[in-house]
Amino acid sequence: MQKIAHRGISAQAPENTRAAFEKMVNLGVDWLETDIDMTSDGQLVLIHDSKVDRTSNGNGLVNHNSLLGLQKLDFGQWFGDEFTDERIVTLQWLIDFINAHALNVNFELKTEVKHEQQNFYLMRVHQSLHQLNQTSQVIVSSFDVDLLKKYHELMPKIPIGLLIEGELPNNIIELAKNVGATYIHPDVTYMTEEQVKLLLSHDLQVNVWTVNEAVVAKKLQKWGVHAIFTDFPV
Ligand code: G3P
Ligand code: CA
Repeated sequence: MQKIAHRGISAQAPENTRAAFEKMVNLGVDWLETDIDMTSDGQLVLIHDSKVDRTSNGNGLVNHNSLLGLQKLDFGQWFGDEFTDERIVTLQWLIDFINAHALNVNFELKTEVKHEQQNFYLMRVHQSLHQLNQTSQVIVSSFDVDLLKKYHELMPKIPIGLLIEGELPNNIIELAKNVGATYIHPDVTYMTEEQVKLLLSHDLQVNVWTVNEAVVAKKLQKWGVHAIFTDFPV
């Protein structure tokens, strides 16, 4: 079972920062997960929340700020003084980093992108991911089914992961086929062995989020789960 470093190695460094990505590489982790959002001037940046409030010394929506504005904020100090001066990470920086270190990656497409900007957002993501070395394993995931479908049409060769919040819906198999998903990404809170079996029997691989307890990880491995997202990959 693969262990995917959730937002970089977010138990040991501020999530989605260079410090987090560098630390995971130094610890020998080669699979990461990150979240792609878009600034007011159409630049792709890595941040989980729709607002910068929790993870920086600023406030407000990511998509109401320009890249230059976001680069003025400190994205490290909230986690610890030794991380002061961490800046927002652009997708371009991470693409180069992934290529340099032969990493594997799961990009989550954010649901916050305004509907009228989605095509532009997907095109920008498409252009960036095109630069990844062929040797990297890549998964593109989202909670937004329509966004995923559009992305799959644009880049059919990149495997799709359908993120599920809460209970697995009864029509999960139909939904997965409709989106073109290779993977289902369910919430660990609701997973049962029967559900894993059902997904596997329909040729759907299972990547579970967010698993931070060793005993749970062991159980999921036994059930045949392909990967877990974890803040503690080592
Ligand atoms: O992709 C797995 C996990 O990251 C989904 O939840 O809220 O951490 O983006 P969240
Ligand atoms: Ca995520």
